[in-house]
Order: sequence, then C-alpha cells, then structure tokens
Amino acid sequence: MTDPGAIGLGTTLAGRYELVAEVARGAMGDVFEALDRVEGSKVAVKVLRAEYLADESMRRRFRREGAVLKALDHPAVVRLLEVAVDDDGVVFLVTEFVDGETLAERLSKGPLSIEETDALVDALCDGLGAVHRHGVLHGDLKPANVIWPGEGCPRLVDFGASKILGLDRLTATGEISGTPAYMAPEVLTGKADVDHRIDVYGLGVVLYEALSAKPPFHDGHVGRLMMKIDAGDSLPLDAVADVPDAIARVVDRAMHRHRDDRYADMAELKTAWQRARQA
Ligand SMILES: Nc1ncnc2c1ncn2[C@@H]1O[C@H](COP(=O)(O)OP(=O)(O)O)[C@@H](O)[C@H]1O
Ligand SMILES: [Mg+2]
Repeated sequence: MTDPGAIGLGTTLAGRYELVAEVARGAMGDVFEALDRVEGSKVAVKVLRAEYLADESMRRRFRREGAVLKALDHPAVVRLLEVAVDDDGVVFLVTEFVDGETLAERLSKGPLSIEETDALVDALCDGLGAVHRHGVLHGDLKPANVIWPGEGCPRLVDFGASKILGLDRLTATGEISGTPAYMAPEVLTGKADVDHRIDVYGLGVVLYEALSAKPPFHDGHVGRLMMKIDAGDSLPLDAVADVPDAIARVVDRAMHRHRDDRYADMAELKTAWQRARQA
C-alpha cells in the first residue's frame, strides 16, 4: 500500500515506476525522475501534491492535464505515456523524461541570442498551434513551463491550467489558475471570455523575457502587478534588450493588452517573427 503522503524517493508506484530523483516541487505536483521497470527506461512522474489530494478542484485540474496531454502528439509538447492509478487510487502522470534545463533556469544565466530565440519561436508556435487546433488553451505559459533539452526541440509542459473550448467555462469565475505575472489582462480582470489569444499573449511575454532575461511585469504586490499588466505598463523590449526594432515590435504586438491588437494566431506570430528576422 502506498500512503499518498509518503510518496517520495524509493517509492514504486503501480508496481512499476520507481521514483529515483526529485526533479521539482511545482505548484500543483511533485515531479520525479523515475525508472520504468517494465521498459527499463527513464520517465517523468508527476504526482498531485499530498496536500491537494482531497481537493476536488485540484484533482479535476490534474485529471484534465492527463486528458489534454493524451489527445496531443507534437514534438514540442511533452509526450504522455500513461495516466496511471496506483492501488490506493493515487493518480499520477507518466511522461517522457525531458533531459535539459527549463527556460527559467537557462534565463537565470542571461538572455537568449536571437538565433536561439528563433528555435524557441519555431517550436512553440508550431506546438501551440497544434494545441489550439485541438481546441485546447495552455493557459500558463512561462519560462518554467518550457524545457529545453540538450538536443532537440523545446518542450511545453504543464497543462494543469489548460482549458478545453466548448467544455470548460471560459468566462470569468473568479477562479484564477495560472501565474499572475504571465497572465493576459483579460484573464486577470475577468473582462471577457478567453480564447486562444491568451496563449499568443503568454508566448509574447515568454519571448520578452527570453530576449531580455527580465519579466516585463513584476511587483511584489499582486494588486499593483495586476494594474500594471492591465495597463500594459512595461518597459519596451528594446529598452531592456539589444534587439532590432522589428523584433521588438513583434514581441510588443504579441503581448498587446488588447487581444484584437495581438496576432490572430500562432501562425501569424511565427510569420511576423520570420519577416522581422529578414528585415
Ligand atoms: N517531463 C519532464 N521531464 C523533465 N522535467 C520535467 C518534466 N515535466 C516537468 N518537469 C519539471 O518539473 C517542473 C514542474 O512541472 P510542472 O508540470 O510545471 O508542474 P506544476 O504544475 O507543479 O508547475 C517543471 O518546471 C520542470 O522543471
Ligand atoms: Mg509548472
């Protein structure tokens, strides 16, 4: 029997996944590197944190993450192997292990070059385009939710705040799931039903931070932070990063406070980036 509160290194879940290293303690789940004893391979296991096991809305978010990942198959989206249930009813997600650092870790050492950012734009625009075609919004884009492996394509992780069009209520419910500093103004203020343009915004914010190593909005006081975001009150990218005008304009437009003034979708953002790179 697995006591859910005691899941940790050395625990073997479902008689198969042996937790061998702690990777991260996230907001919602603990992520472990695990050995899949059946396949003999390294996998990542995400377990809902013990303190949330009894919380129905967190359990729902966790199951949602599994259901969403199951439907997605894209090189820029972390690959789900299994939504597994232990004998004791502990639900956990098994995904490919992405060996690398998160974009947040990478940016703690300084900004990306424009060439490195090209690869990020390519992968994330394509990946998010595929996510949106499935009627899903990621909803929590930020550097900690992008893993950059030593080799291959950057991967989007963490669909714990995702929404499914036509299924979830996309209107303001007062329930905010996501990370305020990276959230679109219409999400924070609950002014409108949200759509995929919250991810256009989120990617814009990620690109701003990628090129400058600074988040566009930060304030220790969450109320002031929200007001800054709602007002679009950030330094222009070219004031904090050494980038050509045309690139700064693309990023500023992606993260425009009014969604009608953003790019309409990921494909349009990608095309605009490529044009700006040739300018
Ligand atoms: N498949 C994976 N391979 C390697 N590391 C991962 C993987 N998935 C998540 N991580 C790491 O665990 C952290 C937390 O995972 P995440 O899914 O974002 O959980 P949370 O919802 O708690 O934020 C990530 O920021 C990343 O560092
Ligand atoms: Mg996360």
